[in-house]
Amino acid sequence: MAGGVTGGADGTWSDRFEQGLHPFIEVFNASIGFDLTLLQEDLDGSIAHARMLGSCGVISVDEADQLVQGLEAIRSEAHAGTFQPGLADEDVHFAVERRLIALLGPVGKKLHTGRSRNDQVGTDLRLWLRRRMDELEGDLQRLQRALVAQADLHRRTMIPGYTHLQRAQPLCLAHHLLAYVEMLERDRLRLQDVRSRVNICPLGAAALAGTPVPIDRRQTAKDLGFDAIYANSLDAVSDRDFCVEFSAAASLVMAHLSRLAEEVIAWASEEFRFVRLSDRCATGSSLMPQKKNPDVPELVRGKCGRVFGHLQGLLTMIKGLPLAYNKDFQEDKEALFDAFRTTRDCIEAMAILFEEGLEFRTERLNSAVEQDFSNATDVADYLVARGVPFREAYQLVGAVVRRCLDEGCLLRDLTLSAWQELHPAFEADLHDALAPRAVVAARRSEGGTGFDRVDEQLDGWLQHLNGTQPVG
Ligand code: ARG
Repeated sequence: MAGGVTGGADGTWSDRFEQGLHPFIEVFNASIGFDLTLLQEDLDGSIAHARMLGSCGVISVDEADQLVQGLEAIRSEAHAGTFQPGLADEDVHFAVERRLIALLGPVGKKLHTGRSRNDQVGTDLRLWLRRRMDELEGDLQRLQRALVAQADLHRRTMIPGYTHLQRAQPLCLAHHLLAYVEMLERDRLRLQDVRSRVNICPLGAAALAGTPVPIDRRQTAKDLGFDAIYANSLDAVSDRDFCVEFSAAASLVMAHLSRLAEEVIAWASEEFRFVRLSDRCATGSSLMPQKKNPDVPELVRGKCGRVFGHLQGLLTMIKGLPLAYNKDFQEDKEALFDAFRTTRDCIEAMAILFEEGLEFRTERLNSAVEQDFSNATDVADYLVARGVPFREAYQLVGAVVRRCLDEGCLLRDLTLSAWQELHPAFEADLHDALAPRAVVAARRSEGGTGFDRVDEQLDGWLQHLNGTQPVG
């Protein structure tokens, strides 16, 4: 019974229990194998709780000090690698409490006054997630910065723009890259919004109904940096909405990363040849000596399934649960931990890829936009500018494209007189107007790919990102 929290058959439970757990069930029941991740937060939460018990007069200030010192001693043991709980500890909360009792004796047994593991685990999880989300914010900005830096190098580089993966209209490469910067910005703001609901304190809800112990929930909440406390004790111990919301926000990050990854994979292929992968971020084949594989974006694309799966798993976990705490909730942790770790790793991998793992093949990109009919809309717009109704112009250009396809040439290969036979509005300036660069430059509408517009956007991003955090 040495080290037991309360007594009972094997030292864990109250004397209500006469027999210890079946060895398989002991393993099945335990979360210590993964919830030790919450150790720092468990210590932080317990320290705030102990201080509050002292200042509310529930325990003496001296006892509170002893508890705080004991908890800090466990933190030091953890840093030194000597705090090594085992299966019998069941979870991180019991492991800490047991160690505290072993260190302090009877005073240690006062820590759990006025709380339950139900509000404790909810507090730990929110503290943990809040910290991790703040780290994610910096990671997202790093990737945004890497994309903006590439965009800055390619303010005048062209890239074919696609719809349905068919050549549509030429673009400025910077414009294409900034589209992802925008997505990541929404992801960042979405995470900030989720954080406001993560940062609410359940501590003091106790098992489900509150406690007769005269605690001060607002003190612990403030001490731990929470913005507010849960108003309803039942809701406090059974809310896992915040885990679902985080996983949903993380899933969108992953979806965005996966789209970018998919483009890089295509761009690196022999068919596109838009980027060259550096040796630092690509791998070879064990069989085919000529190969250089885009493993990094492929893994990012592949790892989406894990995060989307965790979102689904968490939703399914909570959907049929009666109030209040149910052990099902223990399943939230591995899902949340892995959703976070996977998302974070993928953001970092993509940041490294854009920082030093790929190079855009400028010449190839600029010539790619010369080889197609992606200036066809601009011929129609040329006529529109000269008074021809759009639909009529559209029909006419469609016929010209067909003729070019039959003759195996491009729009720019037709002579001015050939154009003028088709419509008297065509003039000598047509050829210049059809050059891909002119076509891009002309798209000056707000949010368009026109070089001047993209310059404005890029300058805004450089200022915004460098203003919030210096470029590393
Ligand atoms: N390990 C548990 C969990 O992760 C801690 C809370 C246990 N509470 C209980 N009433 N059994 O959810």
